[in-house]
Amino acid sequence: MSVVISLLNHKGGVGKTTSAINIGAGLVKHGKRVLLIDLDPQANLTLSLGIPRQKSTIYEAMRGESELEPFEVQENLEVVTSVLDLSGAEMELINEAGREFILRELIDPISHDYDYIIIDCPPSLGLLTLNALTSSRYVYIPLQTQFLAMQGLAKLKQVIDKVRFRLNKKLEIGGVIATMYDHRKVLNRDVVETIRKYFGDKVFKTMIRDNVALAEAPAKHVDIFSYNGSSNGAKDYLALAQEIILRTEEVEV
Ligand SMILES: Nc1ncnc2c1ncn2[C@@H]1O[C@H](COP(=O)(O)OP(=O)(O)OP(=O)(O)O)[C@@H](O)[C@H]1O
Ligand SMILES: [Mg+2]
Repeated sequence: MSVVISLLNHKGGVGKTTSAINIGAGLVKHGKRVLLIDLDPQANLTLSLGIPRQKSTIYEAMRGESELEPFEVQENLEVVTSVLDLSGAEMELINEAGREFILRELIDPISHDYDYIIIDCPPSLGLLTLNALTSSRYVYIPLQTQFLAMQGLAKLKQVIDKVRFRLNKKLEIGGVIATMYDHRKVLNRDVVETIRKYFGDKVFKTMIRDNVALAEAPAKHVDIFSYNGSSNGAKDYLALAQEIILRTEEVEV
């Protein structure tokens, strides 16, 4: 059985997609089998890995026209791709019975094929995100260590609590990831302190440093390990993946 993790923060540009790709690739480096699901109509994850338009994407699957049909990026790393059409899905599925559970039903039959399934959420709290939350055991929240990092978090927590209460009892905030961290900046250090005060030991010890290689890798259509294996970005995501394995296996085994 796989551990399903949603990367969620409705604030845009905080490092959800970068984290999904590189945590995924990092877990593979540690010997795990990983499925990434691009649940964002912007399709940034799909485009960042240079995956061509597939006949069946998450959009066709959510509409009930196909099963999940992952694309193999490398051994042990597969991706369910997205397309811009997915932006219409929220409206199209609004009257569907059990509309919050469509993704969960799609994941169920293939769940045993992977150790980890990581869902890259869009920067919104609509039906797609609800589908991610009903499918997940854990939500990880990436937070950019900048001014206003915590803004909007009360709303995010409220949505997660509601989903846990009404739709998915097992859902937990499993981790908070501090991203784009620069230890030389007082502001960054102060924000991390605030994040730690609020979330306590939910915050991963590994912080993802501000590292230009992480921003460059998508232009080459590869993960950070293929782009520059000795970069700080590669070191940080490898360490974070290790921490995730320890944290999840402590509970699951
Ligand atoms: N640690 C980092 N260091 C430097 N640049 C980064 C880092 N993490 C992410 N970036 C860059 O910051 C931008 C936003 O990151 P990303 O796309 O992962 O955020 P997101 O939360 O998925 O955004 P959206 O809400 O639009 O989906 C991207 O250009 C990415 O390459
Ligand atoms: Mg994204």
